[in-house]
This record gives sequence, structure tokens and C-alpha cells, in this order.
Amino acid sequence: MSAVHPAANAEALSRALAHHRSNAPGYLEDLKELVRIPSVSFEGFPPEEVRKSAEATARLLRRRGFGSVEVLELAGAHPYVLGEHRGDPGAPTVLLYAHHDVQPAGEEGAWLSPPFEPVVREGRLYGRGAADDKAGILVHAAALDSWLRGAGTVPVNLKLVVEGEEESGSGHLEAFLDRYRDRLQADLMVLTDTANVGGGVPAVTIALRGIVVAEVEVRTLEQSVHSGMWGGPVPDPVLALAKMLGSLVDGDGRIAIPGIYDRVRPLTAAERRAIENLPVTPEDFRRMAGVRPGVKLLGGRHPLETNWWQPSLSVNAIQASSRRDARNIVNDVAWARIGVRLVPDMDPAEVARLLEESLRRAAPWGAEVAVKIGEGSPAWKTDVSHPAFGAAFRALKKGYGKEALAIGCGGSIPFVEPFARALGGVPALLIGVEDPRSNAHSENESLDLSDFEAAVRSAIHLYAEVAALGR
Ligand code: BES
Ligand code: MN
Ligand code: MN
Repeated sequence: MSAVHPAANAEALSRALAHHRSNAPGYLEDLKELVRIPSVSFEGFPPEEVRKSAEATARLLRRRGFGSVEVLELAGAHPYVLGEHRGDPGAPTVLLYAHHDVQPAGEEGAWLSPPFEPVVREGRLYGRGAADDKAGILVHAAALDSWLRGAGTVPVNLKLVVEGEEESGSGHLEAFLDRYRDRLQADLMVLTDTANVGGGVPAVTIALRGIVVAEVEVRTLEQSVHSGMWGGPVPDPVLALAKMLGSLVDGDGRIAIPGIYDRVRPLTAAERRAIENLPVTPEDFRRMAGVRPGVKLLGGRHPLETNWWQPSLSVNAIQASSRRDARNIVNDVAWARIGVRLVPDMDPAEVARLLEESLRRAAPWGAEVAVKIGEGSPAWKTDVSHPAFGAAFRALKKGYGKEALAIGCGGSIPFVEPFARALGGVPALLIGVEDPRSNAHSENESLDLSDFEAAVRSAIHLYAEVAALGR
């Protein structure tokens, strides 16, 4: 790599940081503009909004200094946005990642302010996508803008991918990779789409759980019937489904699908130590999750050990008739969506098969069962020996003024594993801005604005730290 002049570099870095200090309100306005677009990538929601969001993202990136910004079309996919910054060819190239699509708003009535009208209250920006993951886009854009306009130079080369279908399972990831792999070569990846443990404490996420999603439909009748006229002999599909779902866990809430724990590894000594040293108590976890007073935490371990390193199963949605239409009937059909979170070594296809077998085995009374398996994605885990991790920990400490933690994560980001592999096993730094109060996917999602600023400062530092490593 080219010669490094420490004094000149320190000077440039401090100008970049100063630029961020005076332009932070502008970055917040940029973020609000993105939050105003309801870019829900789920089926049944208007795809034009995801396109608008891609176009708004592209305009914003251009304004903040990215070059060759493109909205990428892939048949059947919501648009990705690509941008880059080319500087010194001898400097390292960093591939940045965020996503511009969001989850549905959920119960509109449960929002204290409308989901797509961003508003700041008590140091937090409220709105769907404010944290997950439109803030991620702005962290990258603000860091580049600060270097470019504050220091007049950027110490690394950047390529930025902003995905448009993360929340709906990244169904076109392989196609995207095949088509654009050559344009995405980089020395390392930085993904801004994860959470910190709260309290202004930064974190590098070193593992993600994988996921398998299934829909199950149980039918016993051609159509629903009067529950007085027919009830008794006619099997109730809702009860059948309830028994099937109930059979998936034991009395302690542990998954009761035979074979599902076979590949779950015990913790390494380092993972065990990390759990023991966490600044989060089980009580903290309860409070942050909003678990009601008499309700038990399951798993018999530190809740973050259970969340990060054990599989889990939840019923995300269930349907048979509706609250509004509830009346004296035996329903014809009952439906549920089940999500299983996977840990390293679990195979999504195998888990899907075991889940389907368990459901079918538990179906009573000859009820008809249809199972639809959705996109699956395996867990991901990295070791932290690559010097890029040292750079990340130093940058976070400088940006937040606190030592960063290495943490696991109960969530999933399908992009990470195939991408890191396609780029030849380059290190992937997962550094996010969400926190336990962000309520991602739920109502009243919000972003802690002091974490947002600290995350941008850290990103600014990170470019300098990575440049100092060389290629
Ligand atoms: N940003 C999240 C991943 C995440 C979750 C990070 C929790 C930190 C804590 C991401 O947007 C997400 O929600 N992913 C989905 C993936 C799924 C749709 C395949 C998830 O985990 O449900
Ligand atoms: Mn996300
Ligand atoms: Mn999400």
C-alpha cells in the first residue's frame, strides 16, 4: 500500500470527525426522508414503494458522495442499490452493506405516532425502518460524506450494497451474486444491520442464527358449519392445529422435534467466558424484552446464551376465522406460520424436513395437512483472528468512548454467509446501531440518536483503522 503519513492522516481524520459534528442534523433529515417511504418487501404490499425507496436511496447516496450509483434490476426481485467510492487503488476496498426494505408496520393503532411519519421523541427517532435498517444506510453515507467533504479524501475504497429484499428472506441473493460478483470484490465487508446490547455499549456481532420458515394449513371441512348443528362429530381443525403446534415443544418450552438438537454444539471456552462476562443480567433481559411479571424465562441458561446459541421455535401468526367475525362455527380450516431459528451446523433443509414430519405425525383425526416451506438460511459464525476485527474494536472504542463487546445474535441476515464465501472468505464485520429498545419488527420502532452519532463516528474511525492495516 502507498506510504502512510501519520500526522497528515490524523489531521484528515479530525477534519472528517468535525464535519460529522456539524452535519449530524442533515444526516438525520436524510434518514427521515427514507423512513417516510413504506418500503415493505412482503408479498401483498405495493412493490412500487420499494422501488421508490431504492430510488430515494440512490439519490441520497449520490448527494453524499458515492459514485456510479445504480438501482439494479433483477427479474422478480425488489431493487438493490449499488454505489462506490474509488480512491487510492493501493488502499483496501471495503464492501459496505445495509438494506432499505422494512417489515410491515403491524398494528397501526399500537403506534404512538404513525409508522411512516418519522418523529424525534426523547432522543430517539421513531418510525418503521428508523433502526432496521435505514439507519444502516445513513451510517455509511454519513461516514463517506464526512471524509469526502470534511477531509477532502477517503482513506479506503468503498463499494456499497443496499438490499431491497432482506426482510422477505433475500430470495434472489444467489442470482444477485452470480450476476454482480465481479463488481463486488473487496478485502473485507462491513455490515450495518445488527444490534448493540444497550446503554451506549458498542458491539461486534460474531454469529447469527439461521432460519427456517414453514406455513401449515389444516383442513377438515369443505366450508365452515354451524357449531351447534354439526359440532361434536365433526373434527375442529383449529384444535387439530393447536395439538400439532403444542406437540412441537415440551413442558419446559424446549423444542420437541426428534433429532433437532443433534447438531447443536456445546459452547467453546471463549463463548462461555463471553456469556459469563456479559453486562446484561437475566433481569435486564426480562425488562428489555418486556416480559410480564409472572411469566418465566425459558431455557435454563443465561437468556442470551439461549437466544444466541440454542435453536428456538415460534408461531409467528395463526389464523382461523377472526376476532371480528368470531361466531358459533366449526371452522373449515386453520393456518399458522412457524419460524425456527438455527445455530451453527444445523442444516435448514434437514430442519424443514424434521419439522414437517413432526407436524404430520401429530395431526389427529385424519385432518388434511398441507405444509409449505419458505426460504431457509443457515447460521453464520466467524472467528475474530483477522486483524480487521482489531481495527473494528479500536474504531468502536473511539466512536462510543466505551470498549466494544463481541456478541452473538438471535436474528438472521441471509446475505452474510453466501457473500463472505463468494468474496473468498473475507472477514465480515457486523457493526450495527439497533439496541434492545429499538423494537425492530414491532410497533414503535425507534433509533437511539446518540448511538446513531457514535456509530457514524466509529465508521469514520474504522476507515482510518482499516487503511492503516493496508491490504
Ligand atoms: N436486522 C435484522 C437481523 C437482526 C435481528 C440483527 C436481531 C440483530 C438482532 C434483519 O433485518 C432481520 O430481521 N432479518 C430477518 C431475516 C429473515 C427475514 C430471513 C430475521 O432475522 O427475521
Ligand atoms: Mn435488518
Ligand atoms: Mn429486520
